[in-house]
Amino acid sequence: MKPIEIAKNIYDVGVNDWNIRDFHGYSTYQGTSYNAFLIVDEKIALIDTVKKEFSDQFIENISKIIDPKKIDYVISNHTEMDHSGSLPRVMHKIGEDKPLYCSKMGLKNLSRHFPQKWNYHGVANGEELSLGKRTLTFLETRMLHWPDNMFTYVKEDKILFSSDAFGQHYAGHEKFDDQLGDEIMFHAKKYYANILLLYSPLILKLLEKVTEIGLEIDMICPDHGIIWRKDPGRIINAYAKWASQEPEQKAVVVYDTMWHSTETMAEEIAQGIVEEGVIAKPIHIRSSHRSEIMTEVLDAAAVIVGSPTINNQLFPTVSDFLTYMKGLKPKNKIGAAFGSYGWSGESVKLINQELEAMKFDIIDPGVKIQYVPDQDGKNACLELGRKIGKAIKK
Ligand code: FEO
Repeated sequence: MKPIEIAKNIYDVGVNDWNIRDFHGYSTYQGTSYNAFLIVDEKIALIDTVKKEFSDQFIENISKIIDPKKIDYVISNHTEMDHSGSLPRVMHKIGEDKPLYCSKMGLKNLSRHFPQKWNYHGVANGEELSLGKRTLTFLETRMLHWPDNMFTYVKEDKILFSSDAFGQHYAGHEKFDDQLGDEIMFHAKKYYANILLLYSPLILKLLEKVTEIGLEIDMICPDHGIIWRKDPGRIINAYAKWASQEPEQKAVVVYDTMWHSTETMAEEIAQGIVEEGVIAKPIHIRSSHRSEIMTEVLDAAAVIVGSPTINNQLFPTVSDFLTYMKGLKPKNKIGAAFGSYGWSGESVKLINQELEAMKFDIIDPGVKIQYVPDQDGKNACLELGRKIGKAIKK
């Protein structure tokens, strides 16, 4: 990726990772980018780095703007290695004694990742660093999504360098929101659902704080995907909505199936929900990645889960999905279970236990059907769907 001047003397020197398809368990079918920013002022600051594998390209990008040795300060907004992996190469190149600014937790975490004794400056929330005409302000955003996260804000340009927040896994030559259509919102939503959902209460507090202090934002530069310059308010408002976890009139029916019986049940349940005027999306787990499913779960009012019973247990893919969803702590959901079985039939009970642990509102004991659903069985599923649809509309 050629460096792009995103504002006067401020450059994105990051890289595109076109071919990554699995980002620690998250499906990235559009690849991703690791954005990093160079501010050329009286002093020169580099904000974040890129994944280790791209360090050559990264140094080359910086070199197209300035001699890397001229960098005065390195800012690390986040320790995770997609943003810190090139630090050893960068520090070696620019001088190991150059000041490295990070949060106090960043200092601890970077020290656990890298043995080098760099010239760390662990900053307090609100601390400033002058570059000459510009001032960097460091804003702690602990647990969004690691303990070390912080934002860096440039008040003169009203630019927020937001680390992972407001990001999207998307690789492209387009670098700004105005160069892409609404498609980017799907990637932003998926990012929120899979990386940030469990921190929603902290995000609501952060957004309140941003309003309270009247932080003026003309541009948001996340470390992944596109930069929000046309309408940064759009992504801020979307975060406010997603963090509030106010559900839409929509249900997802997530299932796996062995011989299509649980699948037939899923379709009948979805039909019952639709008959009540509510959107229903049946999703076969082995046909959809768990991170895609979570994107649908984010704004769903109900998550209905189906599994056959196999060897007295849940189908393994259903266990995988439930474990993943539990960790992301979705709130305000109606839940119900269903599944076919041969002779023991534990799946519905096991799903209900998991949904209860997630504090879902279990509105029905669920439907279990031996072997293949007959008409009575299908009717029971249809009725369950109608009951769910009615509950969503309340
Ligand atoms: Fe993109 Fe938390 O790293």
